[in-house]
Amino acid sequence: MDFTFLSKYSQFFIDGTKITIGISLCTLVLGFLAGTIICLARISKNKIVSFLATAYIEFLRGTPLLVQIYIIYFGFPTIGLKFPDIGPIPSEYISAIIALSINSSAYIAEILRSGIQAIDKGQMEASRSLGLDYSMSMRLVIIPQALKNVLPSLANEFIVLVKESSIVSVIGIQDLMYSADIVKGNTYLAFEPLLVAAMIYFILTFTLSKLVGRFEFKLENVNER
Ligand code: ARG
Repeated sequence: MDFTFLSKYSQFFIDGTKITIGISLCTLVLGFLAGTIICLARISKNKIVSFLATAYIEFLRGTPLLVQIYIIYFGFPTIGLKFPDIGPIPSEYISAIIALSINSSAYIAEILRSGIQAIDKGQMEASRSLGLDYSMSMRLVIIPQALKNVLPSLANEFIVLVKESSIVSVIGIQDLMYSADIVKGNTYLAFEPLLVAAMIYFILTFTLSKLVGRFEFKLENVNER
């Protein structure tokens, strides 16, 4: 084993790690926004809306993320849908973030739905009987409680995203996985750069999961009012 390449190439790994974290964070935020809308559509009383949301969720969870990324990056431009550069962010990064966010929104929608449906029916009945309408009850009573319950699952989704984002290296995004590949090519070392990447991914996810664990413990000890 030869890790002497690190003195020359450590900056590659640092830059790649930053990109990996940045992409995962953007995806979490966008995925959460889209996921909230999909979740509300999914539990809507309107049959068509709810059917469309279900189809969206099932399709995205039932097809590989790699295929979805290829469809958005290679397929969409052929039908005239090419994402532009946004400021300093090149278009392939936008495609990658959009593909990951769309994928994640399906999972987040289901996380949110399970959170909402776990709230006792009595909560809705009680707030309706106090004169709040459906949307006010949702906004002021149900969703705040549901969010508290799903925070650990959302944090978990972030951990999943850090790992799954490694797949965007296939379209040239210079994330951690891509950096490992470049170093592999430059040094003719097939094993060590990958071990370094694996170690960094592990440190990221392990730290996050420990943080989530702590957070969960705190939430459990919040006094129920
Ligand atoms: N490897 C999975 C796939 O190819 C990706 C799952 C993404 N999961 C998530 N919770 N965002 O479909």
